[in-house]
Amino acid sequence: MKEKLQAIADQARAEISAAKTQDALKQVQIRYLGKKGAMTSVLRGMGQLPPEERPLVGSLANKIRDELTALFAERQNELRQEERLAQMAKERLDVTLPGRPLELGYLHPLTQVMDEIAEIFLGMGFTVAEGPEVETDYYNFEALNLPKDHPAREMQDSFYFTPDMLLRTHTSPVQVHTMEKMAPQVPVRIIAPGKVYRRDDDATHSPMFHQVEGLVIDHHISLADLKGTLLLFAQQMFGPHQQVRLRPSFFPFTEPSAEVDITCMVCNGKGCRTCKDTGWIEILGSGMVHPRVLEMSGYDPEEYTGFAFGMGVERIAMLKYGVDDLRLFFLNDLRLARQFR
Ligand code: PHE
Repeated sequence: MKEKLQAIADQARAEISAAKTQDALKQVQIRYLGKKGAMTSVLRGMGQLPPEERPLVGSLANKIRDELTALFAERQNELRQEERLAQMAKERLDVTLPGRPLELGYLHPLTQVMDEIAEIFLGMGFTVAEGPEVETDYYNFEALNLPKDHPAREMQDSFYFTPDMLLRTHTSPVQVHTMEKMAPQVPVRIIAPGKVYRRDDDATHSPMFHQVEGLVIDHHISLADLKGTLLLFAQQMFGPHQQVRLRPSFFPFTEPSAEVDITCMVCNGKGCRTCKDTGWIEILGSGMVHPRVLEMSGYDPEEYTGFAFGMGVERIAMLKYGVDDLRLFFLNDLRLARQFR
């Protein structure tokens, strides 16, 4: 029996040092020291030994078990280390590589232009107002003197959720929200930057674009105030040589209405392709707030007058930076955005 144990020990030692992986080693351990392992089955024969031999065999078995247990632990450590080294060799972790720099974020060119526009008007005493992008027919049209069958609605025909709810087609509904909130207090002096939506899509029109609305209401506000305000804006935005020109136009919510042109910034007014040889560039629609619009939202048109304007941000950004396709702003191509860092 002692020989049998010794033979098992020899075999186990050989297999332990031959095991190539931790898994293989585990199998060897089970085969020799496990509950149904070789050692156990030999010791089951102890009962047949003469009583005086049993302690000797017992202590030999314990010695061998302790020795093998230690060998397993040792081999286990070796294999663990080897496997870790092999893993590291495979991953080729190069600790000398420089780190990847985290790129600092920056604002979209349109956001920058909108901020710049806002900054100029804040300097003139305006505050920023906001309104929802999903509007009711009342705010988007009705309260702006555009009744249901008005032909001017067609120009802005838009995205409807229900016959009464749509994506706003301009920022002018913010005029109405502001007047409802403030009436009958004056002065009203707000700008309202934001997204608007129309059923248009080409190189100079996008179904979603940005406007900045302006509204001023007070005693004795005149067309001269409108022109002076926009002249100051044009000069701060595009340079001190700027002039503005008002051309008669029509909007249902202003009377009189005007399209506003500024000196072409490409040719400085000499005439070029951008301004179609006129020397002027149109940048916004404007006018004196229609008495009916004032009245509907709580201002007495006999006592107060006001002016309003609405400009397209994309258009201004395109002019300012010489971008010739508006869709470039919405392609999410970082090569465009990076030029405006
Ligand atoms: N809301 C008009 C548009 O989107 C612009 C405008 C605003 C005109 C305010 C006059 C007064 O075309």
